[in-house]
Amino acid sequence: MAVLRVAAVVFFTLLTLSAAVRPLSKRSPSLQHSFSQVPPVCSNVDISGLQFCNTSLPYDVRAKDLVDSMTLEEKAHQLGNKATGVPRLGIPPYQWWSEALHGVSTSGPGTFFNGTVPAATSFPTPLSLTASFNESLWRTLGQVTSTEARAMHNEGQAGLTFWSPNINVVRDPRWGRAMETPGEDTFVIGRYAVNYVRGLQDVEGHEYSGDLNYRPLKVSACCKHYAAYDLENWEGVDRFHFDAKVTAQDMIETFLPPFETCVKEGDVSSVMCSFNQINGIPICADTRLLSDTIKGDWNLHGYIVSDCDSAEVIHDAQKWLGDTQEETVARVLRAGMDLDCGDYYTNFTAPAVMEGKIRESYLDNALINLYVVLMRLGYFDGSPAYEKLGKDDVCTKDNIELATEAARQGMVLLKNDHNILPLSTEKYKKVAAVGPKANANYDMVGNYAGVPCNISSPWSAISKYAEVLYAMGCADVHCTNDTFIFPAVEASRNADATIILVGLDVSIENEALDRTDLLLPGYQTELINQVANEAPNPVILVVLCGGVVDISFAKDNPKINAIIWAGYPGEEGGTGIAEVIFGVYNPAGRLPLTWYKNDYIHQLPLTSMQMRPHYELGYPGRTYKFFNGSIVYPFGHGLSYTQFQTTLVHARRSVVTKLSPRQHCHNIPRQWDAYLNPCPAVLVDDLSNIKDETIDFQIQVKNVGHRDGHHVIIVYDVPPEEYMELPIKQVVAFKRVALKAGETQTVEFRLDVLKSLSVVSDTAYVVLPSGQHTIMVGDGDEAVNFTVNVRYI
Ligand SMILES: *[C@@H]1O[C@H](CO)[C@@H](O)[C@H](O)[C@H]1NC(C)=O
Ligand SMILES: *[C@@H]1O[C@H](CO)[C@@H](O)[C@H](O)[C@H]1NC(C)=O
Ligand SMILES: *[C@@H]1O[C@H](CO)[C@@H](O)[C@H](O)[C@H]1NC(C)=O
Ligand SMILES: *[C@@H]1O[C@H](CO)[C@@H](O)[C@H](O)[C@H]1NC(C)=O
Ligand SMILES: *[C@@H]1O[C@H](CO)[C@@H](O)[C@H](O)[C@H]1NC(C)=O
Ligand SMILES: *[C@@H]1O[C@H](CO)[C@@H](O)[C@H](O)[C@H]1NC(C)=O
Ligand SMILES: *[C@@H]1O[C@H](CO)[C@@H](O)[C@H](O)[C@H]1NC(C)=O
Ligand SMILES: *[C@@H]1O[C@H](CO)[C@@H](O)[C@H](O)[C@H]1NC(C)=O
Repeated sequence: MAVLRVAAVVFFTLLTLSAAVRPLSKRSPSLQHSFSQVPPVCSNVDISGLQFCNTSLPYDVRAKDLVDSMTLEEKAHQLGNKATGVPRLGIPPYQWWSEALHGVSTSGPGTFFNGTVPAATSFPTPLSLTASFNESLWRTLGQVTSTEARAMHNEGQAGLTFWSPNINVVRDPRWGRAMETPGEDTFVIGRYAVNYVRGLQDVEGHEYSGDLNYRPLKVSACCKHYAAYDLENWEGVDRFHFDAKVTAQDMIETFLPPFETCVKEGDVSSVMCSFNQINGIPICADTRLLSDTIKGDWNLHGYIVSDCDSAEVIHDAQKWLGDTQEETVARVLRAGMDLDCGDYYTNFTAPAVMEGKIRESYLDNALINLYVVLMRLGYFDGSPAYEKLGKDDVCTKDNIELATEAARQGMVLLKNDHNILPLSTEKYKKVAAVGPKANANYDMVGNYAGVPCNISSPWSAISKYAEVLYAMGCADVHCTNDTFIFPAVEASRNADATIILVGLDVSIENEALDRTDLLLPGYQTELINQVANEAPNPVILVVLCGGVVDISFAKDNPKINAIIWAGYPGEEGGTGIAEVIFGVYNPAGRLPLTWYKNDYIHQLPLTSMQMRPHYELGYPGRTYKFFNGSIVYPFGHGLSYTQFQTTLVHARRSVVTKLSPRQHCHNIPRQWDAYLNPCPAVLVDDLSNIKDETIDFQIQVKNVGHRDGHHVIIVYDVPPEEYMELPIKQVVAFKRVALKAGETQTVEFRLDVLKSLSVVSDTAYVVLPSGQHTIMVGDGDEAVNFTVNVRYI
């Protein structure tokens, strides 16, 4: 710091002098570089004889030149997250591990909050952001987060490579990391990933253009944890030892698609392989899953990194194939893992080469993948577009307002009997705010968060609308003591309305911590029931949590008039909650998860990966696609203070394909009476002749209520009913639209026939089934259906 300050003073003097003799407009832009605390590598490198700083050469040629100039030991020391650098070549140390799941995070050692930037904007966690079903919000959040990240990088407080987002599917409600993810639907997760990743990575004007290997990056994102990773620690099975038994069908249908979308459509520059094994093979050691799939089939432009200490886990915990440490690093390098978060590569790759376990060229290729990403980030040559960003660009008024807007958009109104909400400030002048979340603070930002700019607690935010009688109800979310319930009942008795705020925090759901049930902990349920049953006034329940909680008791209790799911709403969470309760904002969020009843978890173990019901073992199916039992609230549920009417304007009703002799019919399991159909399905790969065919339709949405509002339209494909074991329905599109009271809008959708109507067969082929598909526009009773007939002739 001290040295840099001196440099800045000297620079300032120079500038003052030169300004005296030259007009201001002629200030050399290159001089302004010096303000950045992290000078580009090539500004310090004397390039004579070396070509890696020669900007006339392509990045991979430059990267190869750099790698070829290193000794084996030097190479090994650049392959861990804490790259030591090569001082003799002018390469400084670099910490690869920073995180930005929902704002710049403290989680990675590459990011600090102890410098000139003390805090960064802390948005709601991804699950809450997903509830908005607003793609442009997700992209904007990525853009703002990467601006703050760049600013912190310039202040010497962050790297340029951020290992976010987490895009694993929430397969089971007990998983402790649901809050970090975009929920249970693969299509929605894919759209979240594309938008957030593009928001983080894309440099304006270079979104799709040119050779993707040279596309500049604002910051580098990472889709993780690849793949079938969704268990932390359950009944003695932990993520380091877990061997996920996954069928090919579930792999193709559920576990891979979010990653495929992230790589192909998001053009993410990194993927992280996870700790667990799939069908007996550690993922980071699986050539088929890494090199062949991510780099080959999906054509990743970037690098594959291990989850932290995966290589060590493969050796120490999994004792995979009885390998030595050198054999382990050789195996994961060969599989396609470029960077080791940990020190296994650093310590054991050089000996592995010397013992003949791996060719040095594998190290070279990994390093080239890494350096090309750093070059795309401007780490070598500078990033003129971002070099002026600094501390004043973090926690700006606009960014905090975006955090507020994100909190609002993620609120989900689950219940609103007799339209008790919104509360009018005229009528409800004194409200009781009770429960362990009434004064929620830092717990609202969830995990993988940074230091928030400021926190708006529900208590303080509600105080802006009414006098608040606060009672904590429970000492904390564990609520092991019922002595605080009585004061909460008292507060409620003396108020005009009662708001009960309950939920979970990271001591109950988190990385390394799965849940043991779906209930509210301790005496929270008693708190709610006692306060509600004694309340002389309307009762609003606000639930703050990521993973689902079984609140059937509250749903069914007529004394509880309204319920809001607030998720982990981020640093402006209190404002979001208060604005929804008092009607400043009309909620429109939808649940990104199925809210199961607690008895669901007694029907199947967390370790069973199968998505479809398992008839022999009596396991029910998973997610809205395969579970048809009784639930608390369905995926996609969410109410508004206004009403919307949807009508279908126009839709294409049939797809008829004349098959050529090379296009074979494919059998898929079907009901006995469907055997007359001579051609149940055709492989999507064989249907290139209709690859551009779409189903275009328009709907008219009218806001028939008296309030402006936003409406989320989720579109599902319901496969023809004659087939067995297919999803009950599957999301194929969604849109969020804004409508003033009385306004009508026409909303257009375009479904890609091969993507939206296809299913994954029991033998893991992607096929387009013939027969009558139902396209369901909207959820529940308000759904508008039309059918599309697929025929092969
Ligand atoms: C940079 O590379 C170009 C293209 O190969 C070459 O013509 C030029 O001489 C190189 N510059 C230096 C300083 O080596
Ligand atoms: C911030 O913390 C890091 C890690 O503890 C340390 O290396 C760095 O010197 C600190 N910076 C300041 C400005 O205190
Ligand atoms: C790697 O080497 C460093 C330095 O010798 C040592 O401190 C560290 O424990 C080693 N790590 C492993 C996993 O062997
Ligand atoms: C932080 O939030 C509190 C409560 O909402 C507010 O009164 C205060 O002005 C905020 N501080 C800053 C620096 O924004
Ligand atoms: C419950 O909390 C009260 C007040 O803090 C305390 O006096 C009492 O010992 C606690 N009871 C238990 C069982 O922890
Ligand atoms: C629900 O699925 C089960 C198989 O898990 C099936 O036996 C049952 O008929 C289904 N029920 C309904 C109402 O569709
Ligand atoms: C989606 O989010 C963006 C960014 O906050 C916002 O401007 C837009 O109004 C939202 N769209 C709808 C329909 O709510
Ligand atoms: C729409 O289709 C679904 C699935 O076939 C069905 O459950 C639902 O009742 C239909 N809704 C209407 C309004 O026809």
